[in-house]
Amino acid sequence: MHPAYALSDVATVFSPSLVFFPELIRKNIARVIEMAGSPERLRPHVKTHKTREIARMLLDAGVTKHKCATIAEAEMLAIAGAPDVLIAYPLVGPNLDRLVGLIRKYPGTAFSTLIDDVNATRALSATLSAAGVKVGVLLDLDVGHHRTGIPIGDSALSLYQLAATLPGLTPNGFQLYDGHNNQPDRAARETAVREFIAPVLALRAKAEAKGVPVPRLVCGGTPSFPVYAAMTDIPGIECSPGTFVLHDAGYGPKYADLAGITPAAVLVTRVISRPTADRVTLDLGNKSVAADPALEKRVTLLDFPEYKTVGHNEEHLIVETAGAASYKPGDVVYALPGHICPTVALHRDVLVAEGGKIVGRWNVASRDRVLTV
Ligand SMILES: Cc1ncc(COP(=O)(O)O)c(C=O)c1O
Repeated sequence: MHPAYALSDVATVFSPSLVFFPELIRKNIARVIEMAGSPERLRPHVKTHKTREIARMLLDAGVTKHKCATIAEAEMLAIAGAPDVLIAYPLVGPNLDRLVGLIRKYPGTAFSTLIDDVNATRALSATLSAAGVKVGVLLDLDVGHHRTGIPIGDSALSLYQLAATLPGLTPNGFQLYDGHNNQPDRAARETAVREFIAPVLALRAKAEAKGVPVPRLVCGGTPSFPVYAAMTDIPGIECSPGTFVLHDAGYGPKYADLAGITPAAVLVTRVISRPTADRVTLDLGNKSVAADPALEKRVTLLDFPEYKTVGHNEEHLIVETAGAASYKPGDVVYALPGHICPTVALHRDVLVAEGGKIVGRWNVASRDRVLTV
């Protein structure tokens, strides 16, 4: 276990609790800036931490561009003083009016969003122009993840050109999110990225030849970050990792090229029962640690004998281990979540530890779906 995680005052920490370590968070931010070459090449995703405090730590480190997925996250970033916020999510229905509210309420922040559909783009334009406001739009290119986005090709070009003619919209670049590129091997990840980068650059050249600028390419998450960070020859690349800031057991050991990025959020849990000779039950149910990935990778118990996770209920995590006899109810166990982002969203507040002690509490502000807008 990382020496920073051991809390000398853990006896007073109720369980289950999620604890953030700002010293490690600062180091993760510094490492990512170092790999990117400068904070200007970053547009981190806020969805991992959802806190004003970490948004400010990023701003203090010189990061001015941010990405988010919800209007609440965008509002939290604007309140924290972020000057440039991309809502990397298709906005539809009443969220269009919320976007107008956001733009009006926070004139100090330039907001942008994604487009991947002609009718939805027209609806976005109609709502914004009727309200007399403008938003930047990035063309969401489907580079193989097949979740949102439009395939690289003529329809994508037409949509981007259309956006340039519609009132209320300013074309602002492309998003390339490749969440499917999670090969442990760096060379394999790079090969996969290189396959779509060439057609993306060709599309960019065509759009610019038609007079529509593509000032930025907002690229990837944490696994593909080292690949984009190294592509310094392509102008306008903005890397958008999110998980790195807190990191987790899912990404942690998997990618050798992310060395220097350390999990900075730990769960404090306790043994609550020893129901059989080989079982230990912890107070770490799926209401305190995310119910993904698969059961065997859901949590990593630290400094714990070899075990297998066999059950996960709302308030219980059940593991089987030959070492069960050395545990008794009340014993503290530290754990890393398999997936930090939805784990954070399960906690209204997180504890903050420095120098081996709890020193405060941060509110997970944009865990709420609505702040004021
Ligand atoms: C559009 C988009 N960009 C960036 C990210 C950040 O990715 P990661 O969690 O791998 O850092 C995500 C993650 O879900 C995403 O959906």
